[in-house]
Amino acid sequence: MYGPKGAEAPVRKVTVPDLRARKAAGPPIAMVTAYDYTMALLLDEGGADVVLVGDSLGMVVQGLPNTLPVTIDDIVYHGRAVSRALRRAHLVGDMPFMSFSTPEVALANAGRLIKEGGFEAVKLEGGAEVAEHVRRIVSAGIPVMGHVGLLPQTVHAMGGFKVQGKRESDADRIIRDARALEDAGCYSIVIEGVPADVGARITESVAVPTIGIGAGAECDGQVLVCYDFLGMFRGMRPKFVKRYAELGDQIVHATRAYVEEVRSGAFPAPEHSFGIKVVESKTA
Ligand code: KIV
Repeated sequence: MYGPKGAEAPVRKVTVPDLRARKAAGPPIAMVTAYDYTMALLLDEGGADVVLVGDSLGMVVQGLPNTLPVTIDDIVYHGRAVSRALRRAHLVGDMPFMSFSTPEVALANAGRLIKEGGFEAVKLEGGAEVAEHVRRIVSAGIPVMGHVGLLPQTVHAMGGFKVQGKRESDADRIIRDARALEDAGCYSIVIEGVPADVGARITESVAVPTIGIGAGAECDGQVLVCYDFLGMFRGMRPKFVKRYAELGDQIVHATRAYVEEVRSGAFPAPEHSFGIKVVESKTA
């Protein structure tokens, strides 16, 4: 009853070369996060180019204060569900905190995401210090998306979720990080939480597409957490989020209406009930 839709025209998947080509040819890349089958189906139908099963699931799905406890098993589990839904969008799996602590560990866990989670690429946080890890994964044929700027997995070291690269020396370091990731073989780089001009400078400095989140309008694409842009997440409301709907309020209103109708007896109505067809048995 709730299985994948049936006979539909085949749709071509967005590939790594397609995304690389968007740097020069455009249009900007539209990336979103998803964590389950139903949401992924809708986001794919809406035309998202890239879907990320982010470790943000720790906060928006599991209700944790940060992403640190998320495991590779969590990402595999949600990847399986999301991968069943996507017809067009390219699927990226986030590598959680400590799942890429050495190049060997990184390769083993990236392999799990591809083999078990149905992912087409992996993403990991960090700059020059993870270049060797990226190289190792890429040499196994697994595409890697980098992630520089505000790194949520270093929340304790940063002293909170704070905009990065405000000082010239920090901005220069983040640009060097992005270049190191490009040299190591990343096919694209997420830039999170930096001033817009730093986002623009990083984007100019690398030949691979950059995908911004709170990094200004000059990046080669943008990414948002689905529950943020759909207006569902009731927690943090960062400045960079634009809410394209208020589905959270709609869900609360719909739930209130349902609760009232159940209590009043208005639901289920006859059209929601199965009739009983009495079949008379013929007895001799
Ligand atoms: O975990 C995540 O959802 C992310 C994106 C916000 C880029 O890393």
